Amino acid sequence: MKLNYFSRGFVSMLLLLLCSQLLFAQVTVMNTRCENLANPIGLDIAAPRFSWQLKGKDRDILQTAYEIEVFTGSPKGAKAWTSGKVNSDSSVFVSYKGENLKSGTRYFWHVRVWDNKGKMSKWSEFANWHTGLFEASDWKAKWIGGVADSSSDQPSPLLRKEFQTAKKIRSAIAYITAKGMYEAKVNGTRVGDAYLSPGWTSYNKRLQYQVYDITDMLRQGQNAIAVTLGNGWYRGNIGFQGQRNYYGKDIGLLFQLDITYTDGSKASVISDESWKTSTGRIRSSEIYHGETIDNRLDQKGWELVGFDDAGWKPAISALPYEHALVATLNEPIRKKEEFKPAKMITTPSGEKIIDFGQNMVGWVKVKVRGNKGDSIKIYHAEILDKAGNFYTTNLRAARQENIYILGGDDEEIFEPHFTFQGFRYIRIEGYPGEIKPENFTAITLYSDMKPTGEFTSSNALINQLQHNIQWGQRGNFLDVPTDCPQRDERLGWTGDAQVFYRTASFNFGVNNFFSKWLKDLALDQLDNGSVPFVIPNVLGKDASGSAGWADAATIIPWQNYLAYGDKKTLSEQYASMEKWVGFMSANSKDDLWNKGFHFGDWLFYRPDDDNDGRSAITDKYLIAQCFYANSTQLVINAASVLGKSADVEKYTALLNKIKAAFNREYVTPSGRLVSSSQTAYVLALHFDMLPEGIRQQAADRLSENISNYGDHLTTGFLGTPYLCHVLTRFGKTEQAFKLLMQESYPSWLYPVKMGATTIWERWDGQKPDSSFQTPGMNSFNHYAYGAIGDWMYRTIAGLDTEEGFAGYKKISIKPHIGGGLSHAKAVLQTNYGQLSSEWKIDANGTTYNFEIPANTSATVYLPEAPGDKIFENGKPLSASRIKVNSSEGGRTGLVLGSGIYNLTVIK
Ligand code: BGC
Repeated sequence: MKLNYFSRGFVSMLLLLLCSQLLFAQVTVMNTRCENLANPIGLDIAAPRFSWQLKGKDRDILQTAYEIEVFTGSPKGAKAWTSGKVNSDSSVFVSYKGENLKSGTRYFWHVRVWDNKGKMSKWSEFANWHTGLFEASDWKAKWIGGVADSSSDQPSPLLRKEFQTAKKIRSAIAYITAKGMYEAKVNGTRVGDAYLSPGWTSYNKRLQYQVYDITDMLRQGQNAIAVTLGNGWYRGNIGFQGQRNYYGKDIGLLFQLDITYTDGSKASVISDESWKTSTGRIRSSEIYHGETIDNRLDQKGWELVGFDDAGWKPAISALPYEHALVATLNEPIRKKEEFKPAKMITTPSGEKIIDFGQNMVGWVKVKVRGNKGDSIKIYHAEILDKAGNFYTTNLRAARQENIYILGGDDEEIFEPHFTFQGFRYIRIEGYPGEIKPENFTAITLYSDMKPTGEFTSSNALINQLQHNIQWGQRGNFLDVPTDCPQRDERLGWTGDAQVFYRTASFNFGVNNFFSKWLKDLALDQLDNGSVPFVIPNVLGKDASGSAGWADAATIIPWQNYLAYGDKKTLSEQYASMEKWVGFMSANSKDDLWNKGFHFGDWLFYRPDDDNDGRSAITDKYLIAQCFYANSTQLVINAASVLGKSADVEKYTALLNKIKAAFNREYVTPSGRLVSSSQTAYVLALHFDMLPEGIRQQAADRLSENISNYGDHLTTGFLGTPYLCHVLTRFGKTEQAFKLLMQESYPSWLYPVKMGATTIWERWDGQKPDSSFQTPGMNSFNHYAYGAIGDWMYRTIAGLDTEEGFAGYKKISIKPHIGGGLSHAKAVLQTNYGQLSSEWKIDANGTTYNFEIPANTSATVYLPEAPGDKIFENGKPLSASRIKVNSSEGGRTGLVLGSGIYNLTVIK
């Protein structure tokens, strides 16, 4: 038979399709990341790490090999690296191993993979990253300061510069940083969308710069750069003792614009004495106290070409920054959600206030028309008092007030620049005309971490709790993890951060955020190994060494490794981890660490009228010994991951001695702890302090204690994160659920029932009669107790990584049904892709849905015993391809490769 032209075409197409089916897998490579970021600009890492995800329709997809290519300047540029085909299942954090990277250069990369069916994917789409400045000599710019103003309000200096570009521009990259904060504009347009830049590091050790591609903002011809500076953390009021100028008394700017013309020639515009300076509309700006803007003093057009700056002074040449200038690793602070007023209220005392319905962090944008000189004051509060009046006493010395003075033009729009407020309510004074909701918009600001986790259930109060946990994280992850965002504190409290880390790592991608902060922790660590209470340390060196706070040095790097498989950060922090354990050893006698100042189980249950000793006090040194052991254990874990076997041996010997000392000092021969609090038992059990033989009886004592308090917790900051985990581990999940579902004080749901929209600092920040706890320590946005989120993800939904395969390369899913819930679901965007676990109960039985990302595998432990009642997509499990590997503690263990699974268990 002869084929006509058409059918011959058809057959060859078919053949082609068949061939490509044979050669190319259905696997696609996507979500390519460099150092966790999509096309980052300004990385000063010599060997950045690449990650990618595999996607395909089939189940059980694994990677068996990869190949990466890197090109300089453009996808067609010179090859900087080709890995060749590497037989490996690594798809997360694969390090660059090519030629030395050049400063200020963009590199393009792509990757392809082979799967476990031997098929090759297509090359991924090109991604890129732009290097920062590797050498100090790459900086040509000079530090300059603004006009010296004697006024105590310290108006923001303005700095401007005009310059010519004679030729066509191929690329223009700006490198900017400041002592203080900066906001830069080019030809009147804001550079980038980051706020409160350059962020907060231990400025007396290192300072971050930011890199911006401003090619499209420049014109051929005359251009204007305009930079405004603010006090920021550098010299503004920081810390609760009213201190100023912690890092220095002069703020300044470092600005370098490197231009490449289309003909290949280069030019730079740098900060130097040729810049001009003056002051303008920002009259004062303080993180705690707010900003004053006076539009009458606006120097109109100063950001544009052609402005007459003859009256301006030359910029002041400033001393160079003497510490390390580093590129920015973490996500910048950006504007995120916007809120319109939920309610307009006139309070019993006659004040005009707006309720935005959510306790948040950021500021309010105000639109107004009025006369020149009209002055508006915006005050911020988290809560209304018992009578319904605006309540600010808990802000302590922080004024949180923005003052706007009108220039008298048509419509004026105000929003601050170098401050932020923690608030749900604002009070408005002096607004000309009627206060209308459409003129007020609340805008949140926080580190732009990728949202990665969701937890939902059939219980609306638990869902609100999850909402509150996530909002506590949003508001307090502002370049550093802060304790609270509203009072005169807002500091990187180490204890709070370690308590909340694991929960944080479920809700948002916090790998870079914490890797950056941990570097400051290591730098601020004292020579003797002690770790400051707050990082960056602005409280002085005596404020250090508290058990459970300083342990952020060990706990966070280890948990960061578990959550992301980030070995590099673990290895970079290893010396700091060891140093902290070294400090505790050096301060111990006979292996007992029982000296020094400790916060203890901060904010534990303490009833007002405690006549019969119901306060849940835990001996501080008992706590210290538990954390000493835990930190030592984490050094052992890290040493073993990093292949340091001699250290494993050394610290294991030490750990045995620490535990023996604990048992000698704090445990009676019959197995009772000297403090009979929940926290004492929780720490002793969670950190394996007790000999195996007495653990169950200790857990029974814990359980009895909880019952004695009427199924209430009594734990503070240090016991709370582990409480429910310990109950689950010792077979008391039902009691853990009781604690979670408890609605009366002290409990997680009590604040929810009281209308909380964030996590409170104290279990009873607002009492049942609506009166407040002591104003000296009563924040309504403090994430620490939100640490229960970890138990919700890891126990209720059951999502966890296998420890030996950190970062969810191997997954363990062990759902727990209880608490009267009929449904629970958690979704987590892991480095490999989306992972989820869901269960639903109805009259017929239980349905489970799981999603396992490609290039991982999971063991699912269903709560039910193995048997014929388990179905996959309607077919009995025995008829499916799913392997039943074991039954653990009465559970059915299923080995699942990647894919989507629907299982039902019939009653
Ligand atoms: C902070 C805490 C912190 C504590 C130390 C407080 O002022 O707000 O969250 O951990 O001091 O105990």
